[in-house]
Amino acid sequence: MNAGKLATGDLKTGLLSCTPAGAMILVRQIHGKDLSGLNALVIGRSNLFGKPMAQLLLNANATVAIGHSRSRDLPELARQADILVAAVGRAEMVKTDWLRPGVTVIDVGINRVAAPEKGDGKFKLVGDVAFAECKPVAQAISPVPGGVGPMTIAMLMANTVIAAHRRGGVTAPSF
Ligand SMILES: NC(=O)c1ccc[n+]([C@@H]2O[C@H](COP(=O)([O-])OP(=O)(O)OC[C@H]3O[C@@H](n4cnc5c(N)ncnc54)[C@H](OP(=O)(O)O)[C@@H]3O)[C@@H](O)[C@H]2O)c1
Repeated sequence: MNAGKLATGDLKTGLLSCTPAGAMILVRQIHGKDLSGLNALVIGRSNLFGKPMAQLLLNANATVAIGHSRSRDLPELARQADILVAAVGRAEMVKTDWLRPGVTVIDVGINRVAAPEKGDGKFKLVGDVAFAECKPVAQAISPVPGGVGPMTIAMLMANTVIAAHRRGGVTAPSF
């Protein structure tokens, strides 16, 4: 029901998937509520994230493209984006030469990679975006860890508050 409501543009009466809802709050902090005239690329088309993220961006008036494993030239698609959202699950796939200067980058990916500098057999988390090389080019970029992950948890709490208000017959806050 919630997926159907989102697909038909009803953002008021259902509950939004937590990760895209949190990512949209990050986008809103940079660009405001109205994304008219901005190009957005979401890399990844999962039901959990890619599709709802694209629908939320579209609902906010962005011009939205969705990239995936069968896309022909992702770097070229990415260079057209004012807002680039990566949700693939491939460590540091997005490089600096994929970015248009001044782009807003939302990194959703969580990848565990070996970190021998921390000791034998140790791991660290990295995103789908090569953070260090992309940061100087971007207007804003979310880190991994510490970016979309905590926003997801915050939106889970927000959805809980909304659901509790509705069940109690009280007008729910919006986030
Ligand atoms: N921070 C958070 O709270 C949070 C929440 C959810 C997910 N995540 C992370 O976000 C990432 C994606 O999650 P998901 O559930 O959406 O994953 P998923 O269901 O595995 O979807 C991955 C998407 O990436 C695409 N893809 C795979 N390899 C690609 C490539 N080489 N080039 C372009 N596209 C490629 C796939 O394309 P096809 O459809 O063509 O196969 C698919 O659409 C994961 O790392 C996950 O851990 C983080």
